[in-house]
Amino acid sequence: MSFSLKNFWGVGLRPHHYESWLFDTPPGKCTLEAISENYLYHNGGPALYYLDQLVERFPLVLHGVSLNFGSADPIDRNYIQRLKKLIKRVKPSVVSDHLSFSAIGGKHSHSLIPLPRDPKYLKSLRSRLLWLQDELDHPFTLENIPRYLQYKNNEMSEVSFIMELIEGTGAGLLMDVNNLYVTCSNEGSDPVAEIAKLKPGCVNQYHIAAHMDAEGFLYDTHSGKIKPEVWQLLNKAISLSGAAPIVLERDDHEPLSATWEDWDGQSIAPAVESASRVNIATKLSDRYHSVSSGASL
Ligand SMILES: [Fe+2]
Repeated sequence: MSFSLKNFWGVGLRPHHYESWLFDTPPGKCTLEAISENYLYHNGGPALYYLDQLVERFPLVLHGVSLNFGSADPIDRNYIQRLKKLIKRVKPSVVSDHLSFSAIGGKHSHSLIPLPRDPKYLKSLRSRLLWLQDELDHPFTLENIPRYLQYKNNEMSEVSFIMELIEGTGAGLLMDVNNLYVTCSNEGSDPVAEIAKLKPGCVNQYHIAAHMDAEGFLYDTHSGKIKPEVWQLLNKAISLSGAAPIVLERDDHEPLSATWEDWDGQSIAPAVESASRVNIATKLSDRYHSVSSGASL
């Protein structure tokens, strides 16, 4: 069967668009992806005032940028408690951050730095993931980032590493198909072969975006036109893992009241019939509570 992208599309929620989404846009299926950190401090401020109302009108996912999940530093418990409170309040279907680190020894890089794909790190990362989910009392979702540097001990491939990390934890993957395309191109591997390693049901959310080619080295830019090869990866990912909210990342011209035509009129035809309607929140909750472990760091 084929299904329309328009049942799963979503865009980033930007503060300068709050009032337009609230007052000029009819309630609908478009998923809004809110940046978690915008609502965690000063009691949420005016931003939370808008978010409280928007969640009554649109599906919501929360996407964080400062968890520092992959670091050897302890996870900031104050941040976790604030995030937990926000989750309880706005009930997002997906809560995510990046599979990377951005600070070590308390020193912040303000960049997302990739982790070595070395199997010896999997045990501690899995413990950290289980602990995080128990602290939040919510399933967590990790996003693959674009890689611009290589480690000598990248013993596993990108998707194999993530599949092993999340398996049996109740956590899921935010599959950024553009990031995967950029990573594979920069590493000299085949993105189609990588995406084929996705397991059914492992993806809780997708990102799609554009990139730029700088003399053969690719950079994730969130601007410009999405390449056909990236659309094809998304199609393949959905056929393997199933449908989930698909958020368009576009920083230079974030759609205001996006219609699916803003996505270059693309449609996708996944092979999985059951993918057409998925209650993501129920699926995630069931999965998480079946493995919630009381893990400690
Ligand atoms: Fe992304």
